[in-house]
Amino acid sequence: MEVVIVPDAKAGGELIAEAMAALVRRKPDALLGVATGSTPLPIYEALTAKVREGEVDASRARICQLDEYVGLPAGHPESYRSVVLREVVEPLGLSESAFMGPDGSAEDVQGACEAYDRALAEAGGVDLQLLGIGTDGHIGFNEPCSSLASRTRIKTLTEQTRVDNARFFEGDIEQVPHHVITQGIGTILEARHLVLLATGEGKADAVAATVEGPVASVVPASALQLHPHATVVVDEAAASKLKLAEYFRHTYANKPAWQGL
Ligand code: PGA
Repeated sequence: MEVVIVPDAKAGGELIAEAMAALVRRKPDALLGVATGSTPLPIYEALTAKVREGEVDASRARICQLDEYVGLPAGHPESYRSVVLREVVEPLGLSESAFMGPDGSAEDVQGACEAYDRALAEAGGVDLQLLGIGTDGHIGFNEPCSSLASRTRIKTLTEQTRVDNARFFEGDIEQVPHHVITQGIGTILEARHLVLLATGEGKADAVAATVEGPVASVVPASALQLHPHATVVVDEAAASKLKLAEYFRHTYANKPAWQGL
């Protein structure tokens, strides 16, 4: 995998937004898989700015969701459907019809998971999937020891993830759902390009285990090592525990400019 060390979150957002814009210029109806949480917000800000400034026409782009809470009432502001509509779909000027996500309020949750996997395949597959990483190494909501071949399914959140996400629920862990739907690791690995952004010291251990540790389900993000086109963008703080940081810097500095991410 390629590791790119950037000075800060804003620079990471700009770099990834440019890669997304380049993809959309090549393939106007690209299916862009987006992630929630705080980390990707600079990406969405930078991409929205590019659209508003006319650097890229994203009017035919399609957006799909990585994961979703189970059991929040429809329209709950912290459901990931609401978050993605608010942070990505609306700012880019897209309509809701350009957006796909799993139905977290379905009575038949397992059926909704299988339907979402089918819908992604029928849409031609994800062209670029953005990922964050949990402090426990999760991608999407694939918590430690998720099967590396898993498909979209229901998962139970770890206590750590519920603590981490309580800030979106007035700091009250009791309001954070226990269950989620997440694209499986096997599903995620089918995207044509995986781009993981990690910022802040709190992610440094998870990043080191992902990049330099063995492929192991106990660190779900380490599955990126199995993907032929995976890019890990980290700020200095998140890179602080990488033993090979100098090598990564050297490699990226000497990459041909035309290659992009
Ligand atoms: P964060 O979440 O960007 O809010 O840190 C990342 C994740 O849990 O995947």
